Amino acid sequence: MALKITVIGTGYLGATHAAAMAELGFEVLGLDVVAEKIDMLRRGEVPMYEPGLEELLRKHVAGIEGSTGRLRFTMDWAEVGEFGDVHFVCVNTPQKHGEYACDMSYVDAAFESLAPHLHGAALVVGKSTVPVGSAERLAARLAELAPAGEDAELAWNPEFLREGFAVNDTLHPDRIVVGVRSERAEKLLREVYTTPVAKGSPFVVTDFPTAELVKTSANSFLATKISFINAMAEVCEAAGGDVAKLAEAIGHDERIGKKFLRAGIGFGGGCLPKDIRAFMARAGELGADQALTFLREIDSINMRRRGQMVEMAREALGGGSFLGKRVAVLGATFKPDSDDVRDSPALNVAGQIHLQGGQVTVYDPKGMANAKRLFPTLGYAGSAVEAVRGADVVLHLTEWREFRELDPTVLGEAVTARVVLDGRNALDPEVWRRAGWTYRAMGRPTA
Ligand code: UDX
Repeated sequence: MALKITVIGTGYLGATHAAAMAELGFEVLGLDVVAEKIDMLRRGEVPMYEPGLEELLRKHVAGIEGSTGRLRFTMDWAEVGEFGDVHFVCVNTPQKHGEYACDMSYVDAAFESLAPHLHGAALVVGKSTVPVGSAERLAARLAELAPAGEDAELAWNPEFLREGFAVNDTLHPDRIVVGVRSERAEKLLREVYTTPVAKGSPFVVTDFPTAELVKTSANSFLATKISFINAMAEVCEAAGGDVAKLAEAIGHDERIGKKFLRAGIGFGGGCLPKDIRAFMARAGELGADQALTFLREIDSINMRRRGQMVEMAREALGGGSFLGKRVAVLGATFKPDSDDVRDSPALNVAGQIHLQGGQVTVYDPKGMANAKRLFPTLGYAGSAVEAVRGADVVLHLTEWREFRELDPTVLGEAVTARVVLDGRNALDPEVWRRAGWTYRAMGRPTA
């Protein structure tokens, strides 16, 4: 009989995983403790913007006309325990307030609630990004809490999905990593992932700590690549070099690779910044802090970029104060194809300029509602053209395709001064310059 799957936590990761599991043919039950989320998901609505996710949900959510009915949602832990053979824990592990460490309270609460309801040889699979050592601790807790005589077991299966590509990354992962302690657990997970493995996704079997570390080290490597190229951008700025050309040239070396070498205002979002900080905190607890001191530098190079963008804007406005200056900001989300504004470099820059007296107007294709909630005092406009109206300088801070496709001639008619600062190195300098703009980008000559 086919495995029955539950997904605990229906946020970004959980909602995508649940829909993907249904797409792979399993009966799936998703649980969340937030009633509004469950109501939305039952209607086939997604609480965030993610390309293709709503379509996938609507294809499978029970009760929606024409759906397979394989995907249902509940708030009842007993129902989840009764239903599932494999339970994926997909809850959030945010950064603790005022600390580097990550907050494990949602993961712990999920285990406490789920474990007493497990039955039979259920497999609980952790997917959340956690400090190394958590799986070991949670396995012991599971053994204590599961009903007597039931042999519930834990596995760890980190998730590598990227916002904006979540559906594809889940259905066709670059790799599947499973930390297991028994052949049975491995066999069950091989069954879950039969289809992606058949389509070529490598299946890597490890112990618990390695599985946990694969995730944090992968994110640390990505963060390092971005901060590396941003450090090179700083040197290019000082020496008159061009970081975009430099990235292209070093990227031809296959050992380096072309990806994740776009210099600009740096990384943000709900993962990279908090994951490298939590990793440093955990290494400290383990007495291995020296091994990760370089991540402190990666973090500070990254955070510095935001201030440098503000200074670039000040300089473009003639130096001095932002008071009375109109600054248009294109982009609010931490990356394109997402409505996520968590730790967004774009909003951070917009916020700093606003606090220094600049009259900031922001436009983003999908992030407006979240941005307004987080920064209600910034100015907002309904389109790029509206945002730049009367602007003394235009800042391009999130590289949406919509912005690359803007016609600089049309925009040029709306602004006070044709000055664009590209914080993402994503616009075509020639196109903007031909339309009479002063184009400047981080780490590139002013021309
Ligand atoms: C990341 C990891 O990529 C993913 O594997 C993991 O599961 C979760 O964390 P995500 O947070 O969606 O995914 O964003 P990502 O695409 O990695 O981008 C992170 C940030 O880096 C964005 O703010 C982006 O603008 C920035 N970035 C990315 C750069 O500044 N330059 C680059 O070259 C690439």
